[in-house]
Amino acid sequence: MKHQKIIVALDGNSSCGKSTYAKRIATELGYSYIDTGAMYRAVTLACLESGLFETTGSPPVQLVEDLLDGIEISLQFNPERQRTEIYLNGRMVEDQIRGMEVSGHVSYIAAISAVRRKMVEYQRRLGEGKAVVMDGRDIGTVVFPDAELKIFLTASLEVRAMRRYKEFIEKGMPADMEEVKQNLEKRDHIDSSREDSPLKQAEDAIVLDNSHITVDQQMEWFQDVYNRITARFDGGH
Ligand code: DC
Repeated sequence: MKHQKIIVALDGNSSCGKSTYAKRIATELGYSYIDTGAMYRAVTLACLESGLFETTGSPPVQLVEDLLDGIEISLQFNPERQRTEIYLNGRMVEDQIRGMEVSGHVSYIAAISAVRRKMVEYQRRLGEGKAVVMDGRDIGTVVFPDAELKIFLTASLEVRAMRRYKEFIEKGMPADMEEVKQNLEKRDHIDSSREDSPLKQAEDAIVLDNSHITVDQQMEWFQDVYNRITARFDGGH
C-alpha cells in the first residue's frame, strides 16, 4: 500500500546524529533529505569571507543584513556522489562549511532574525510538495509546526563530542577533543537560549535518545513510529 506523503521534522542538539539518521530515513521512504544547518553554515561562510567577524562573538547585525541581500543559497542533488550539496552564490561549498571555523561562528549567525527569515522561507518552499525529511533545530516548532511526524533526537554530550571528533579525524581534519566538546556546549547554549526560534522540543514531538543504540536500531524504532503515524493519516482519507 502506498502511503500518503508526509513531512518528517527531525530536531535536536548539535552532533547527535541527525543528518545520518535523516539521510537513512529519506532513503528508506524515497524522500528528499534537507539539511537546514548547512544553510546557516553557508551564510556564516559568506560572513567569514567578507571579514565580518573582526572581534569575537556576533558580528554587527546590520552588516550581516546588508550582506544577506546578495547571498543566494541553494541545495542541489549531485547524482555522481549521490548526495545533496549546498551552493553559496553558485559555488559548491559543502566541504568549507564543515570545518571548525564555520562551526565556531555559526550559532551567532543562526541567531539573527533576518537570516532565519530568509532561510525559513526557502525551507518552506522546499517542503511544499511534502515527501521531505528536514533536520535542524526549529523544524517541528517553527518551519513546519504541522509536520505529520516530529522527532526530537538527543544524546549525551560525551557521546556527541566523541562522534564529532571521529568525524573530523576520518576526514583528515585537525581536531582536539576538548575543543570539540567546548564548541558543542557553547553551540547548545546559544542555540537554546536565543530569542528567535530557540532549539526546543515541539510538544507533539517524539523523543529518541540514541546515546547507546545503533542506527539500525533507530531505523527499527522509526519504522514502528512511521507505521503508526501513517495508519492514522491514511485512515483519515
Ligand atoms: O546542524 P548543524 O550543526 O549543521 O547546524 C549548524 C548551526 O545552525 C547550529 O549552531 C544551529 C543552527 N541551526 C539553526 O539554528 N536552525 C536550524 N534549523 C538548523 C541549524
